[in-house]
Amino acid sequence: MEQSNKSARDSVARSSAGHVALVTGGSRGIGRATCLALAAKGAAVAVLCRSRINEAKGVAEQIRSAGGRSLALQADVLDPEAITRSVEEVVAALGNVDILVNNAGAMTDGAVADLKDEDWEESLAVNLTSAFRYARECIRAMKERRWGRIVNVSTQAVYTGSSNHAHYSAAKAGLLGFTFSLAKEVAAFGITANVVAPGRILTDLLLERSAGREEEWIRQTPMRRFGRPEEVADAIAFLASEEASYITGAVLNVNGGLVMG
Ligand SMILES: NC(=O)c1ccc[n+]([C@@H]2O[C@H](COP(=O)([O-])OP(=O)(O)OC[C@H]3O[C@@H](n4cnc5c(N)ncnc54)[C@H](OP(=O)(O)O)[C@@H]3O)[C@@H](O)[C@H]2O)c1
Repeated sequence: MEQSNKSARDSVARSSAGHVALVTGGSRGIGRATCLALAAKGAAVAVLCRSRINEAKGVAEQIRSAGGRSLALQADVLDPEAITRSVEEVVAALGNVDILVNNAGAMTDGAVADLKDEDWEESLAVNLTSAFRYARECIRAMKERRWGRIVNVSTQAVYTGSSNHAHYSAAKAGLLGFTFSLAKEVAAFGITANVVAPGRILTDLLLERSAGREEEWIRQTPMRRFGRPEEVADAIAFLASEEASYITGAVLNVNGGLVMG
């Protein structure tokens, strides 16, 4: 009895065993924590980044030294050829992608009245178009195997709005419409597509942009603290797991109560 309880626990703990995951923006913050969470559930993990390849290699090394399979890769999601190439490299090294986490994101400042077309287009390219391109690259093989998990990382700012970030919020809101439609297209093939919408999470991105507003942001959050990257990663890893098989087209808020519903 004790033995069967133990194997039940082990199978839950390693519910992504045998799957291959590709995580964009895996060099730091939420993406890094997601790579480690997926590896802890037994997935082989491709850690993608734009420029911090040493950090990405460190994440991959951490996974390998714990007995997992992992590789680190550089691919700027602004470059469509780099997206195609990176998926090919992951498939060659680890196998077909079963779990795709579109986490790479970037935020710049600019009021709508001052935004240049290039700022708008770059925000859409990094935060939205890259998710479409990675999904397009990975879906065919997922369909053939009739199993797949796609998780797109948005933000609570799509509900609250964010002054000087209309280009970022619009791109991240676009991820919701994209994900819902994608979820319908692929549902019959055993593939799910969901969104995780983080609130204020203590990463370098937040620290680089908070400029002394930490106390105000914490006051606005019912839980009175920032989230940890691991708390977002666990939500992503759940949606990527076997256990989340009947959840698709969902938005999972991980925001300490900042936005509810
Ligand atoms: N932190 C928060 O409070 C918060 C709240 C809501 C939503 N989010 C979203 O959560 C995701 C992760 O945020 P984070 O705080 O962990 O961010 P972060 O610490 O700034 O990390 C961003 C990651 O994205 C990668 N990246 C950025 N531009 C890229 C590009 N052009 N091509 C490829 N990779 C690129 C970076 O790679 P390099 O390191 O190589 O540059 C890095 O790995 C983002 O989509 C962000 O919008 C964060």
